[in-house]
Amino acid sequence: METIKDNLAIYQHGKPENLPLVFVHGFPYDHRMWDAQINKFQSNYYCITYDIRGLGESPARGGQFTMEDLADDLLKLIEDMNLNKPVVCGLSMGGYITLRAVEKDESKFGGIILCDTKSAADTNAAKLNRAGGIRKIDEHGVKKFTADFIANCFAEESIERLGAEYQEIVNWAAGCDPVGLKACLLAMAGRTDTTSYLSKLKIPALLMCGEKDNLTPPEVMKAMAEEIGKKSFSVIPHSGHVTSVENQEAFNMAVLNYLLKYFS
Ligand code: MLT
Repeated sequence: METIKDNLAIYQHGKPENLPLVFVHGFPYDHRMWDAQINKFQSNYYCITYDIRGLGESPARGGQFTMEDLADDLLKLIEDMNLNKPVVCGLSMGGYITLRAVEKDESKFGGIILCDTKSAADTNAAKLNRAGGIRKIDEHGVKKFTADFIANCFAEESIERLGAEYQEIVNWAAGCDPVGLKACLLAMAGRTDTTSYLSKLKIPALLMCGEKDNLTPPEVMKAMAEEIGKKSFSVIPHSGHVTSVENQEAFNMAVLNYLLKYFS
């Protein structure tokens, strides 16, 4: 079921009395990147996906927003939907949002699953890359920008294996609002560093990373897991940066094991 609340498109699957799982997608995707997880978990969990501000069906609202707004959108969603200590799963940009929201108010969360993400803020080189991305959208259009960006995220073997499924993702990303894309790039470039919070985290955390993730490599996420302490860290084989799509089975298995270990 889709509802539009405070300009956020929210999708609910499963029974509200079950443990809530909230999925926060990466850039430049939308809630559809979680289809395999919804199929797997909706019968035993209350699954919620939403489109991040500026992406999918959620409007960019003028295009001036920051990572703080994106983190507040998540906190407000949890509050407005009366979700009792959900487990929130964020991939890449979704992980930046989740980590910042947890840093702001951990009491609202039951657990977190961080996938292919990092706690460090953008380096100067990364900021310049974002600036280049904005220029590319202006000069060459959304289709070229998103196709190149996505190709850089997926492992070559996944692109071949997924075939039409990969092409479908490229096709829907080509329909992104340029204002929303540029706003997200600026929000990511301006985000704070959440590393100092990792060692303070009290709720159970699962960290996952594709073995061939070049954007947020396994070493980076392993270091985050060590900072957090005795938490789970899983390397997903045959996957680049978009683990939930590239190796759905291994991803879902790692999530299930974590849920059974901490929430049953
Ligand atoms: C994502 O997958 O959300 C992006 O790669 C994040 C980023 O560009 O930092």
